[in-house]
Amino acid sequence: MEKPRVFITRRLVLAPQNVLGAGIQIDVHDSEEAVQRSELLRRVREASALLAVGGDRVDKELLEAAPRLRIVANHAVGYDNVDVPACTARGVWVTNTPDVLTDATADLTWALILALARRVREGERMVRAGEFRGWAPTMLLGRDLRERTLGILGYGRIGRAVARRAEGFGMRVLFNARGGGVPFDELLPQADILSIHCPLTPQTRHLIGPAELLRMKRGSLLVNTARGPIVDEAALVAALESGHLGGAALDVFENEPAVHPGLLGRDDVVLLPHLGSATQQTRESMARIALEQVERVLRGERPTTAVNEVTPP
Ligand code: DGY
Repeated sequence: MEKPRVFITRRLVLAPQNVLGAGIQIDVHDSEEAVQRSELLRRVREASALLAVGGDRVDKELLEAAPRLRIVANHAVGYDNVDVPACTARGVWVTNTPDVLTDATADLTWALILALARRVREGERMVRAGEFRGWAPTMLLGRDLRERTLGILGYGRIGRAVARRAEGFGMRVLFNARGGGVPFDELLPQADILSIHCPLTPQTRHLIGPAELLRMKRGSLLVNTARGPIVDEAALVAALESGHLGGAALDVFENEPAVHPGLLGRDDVVLLPHLGSATQQTRESMARIALEQVERVLRGERPTTAVNEVTPP
C-alpha cells in the first residue's frame, strides 16, 4: 500500500523525519519563502496531511484540490488562515500549536512596549549614525511605565502572560475579553498602552478603526502582536499623523508582509517582522506539536490539539 504523504509548506527548525514515523512520505517546500499558490495546490493533490503556516490560505479551493486530505496541522496558535467549517464539512482535522508560544509572544510584546516607551529604536539609530555627542538631560525622553494603565484586549493565554509581566513594571492592568473584564468602550479611554491579544475573527477584523482610535487616550500607545487586520492600518496612520496617538509598535500587519507606507518613515513607530514566537526553543516545540498531530491522524488516532471536531468516516 502507498504510504500517506504530508506536504510541509516551509522549512522547519527540526528535521520532520526525526518526528514522523517511516510510514509517512515527506514532501517539504524547503524555503523561508512562501510556496506559490499554484504550487501549493499542485503539491497537496496527493497529500493526506498538510503542515501549513499562518501565511498559507487553506480554503475551499485548496480542499477541492486535495481530495485525500485528513488533517491541516497549522504551525501557529492562530488559525484565521484556515476555513475551519469547510475543513470540518470534509472531515478534515484542523490543529494548532497552543501553550508553547505563550511566553515567547508575551516576552516580545514587552520588548515592543519597552522599545516604544523608551524610544529604543531612535536611540539605537542615533548611535549607529554617529549622532550621539554625549549625555544630555533633555535627550530622547521616554515614558515611565510605573502606575500607568496597560489595557489588554483579549485575555487568553497570551494576554494573561502579558498581564503577569506588567506586575513587575508596577503597571495597573485592565482587560477586555468576551468573558469579562471592563467593557471595550471603557478600556480605550483608560489605557496608556493598549496591547492586542485577541484572535482574528470576522468580529475582530478592524476592531480598532477610526472611531476606536479616537476614543483612545490622547498620546497613548498601541501595541499589536496578535493579527494585523484587527487594526485598520490606514486609520492608525491617520491617528499617528494627527498626533492623537503617541506611537505604535507592530509585529503584525494588515496585508502581511506588506506594511502601510505611512508607517515606515515614522519615529514614533516600532516595526517587527512577525517575530512573536521566534525563539529556537519555541519554534522547535511548535514544529514538534504540528508534526505529532500529523502522525497521530495518519495513524488513525485523534489529534491532541484539534480546533474542530471530526466524525470518523
Ligand atoms: C501564531 O502562532 O499564531 C503566530 O502568530 C505565528 O503565526
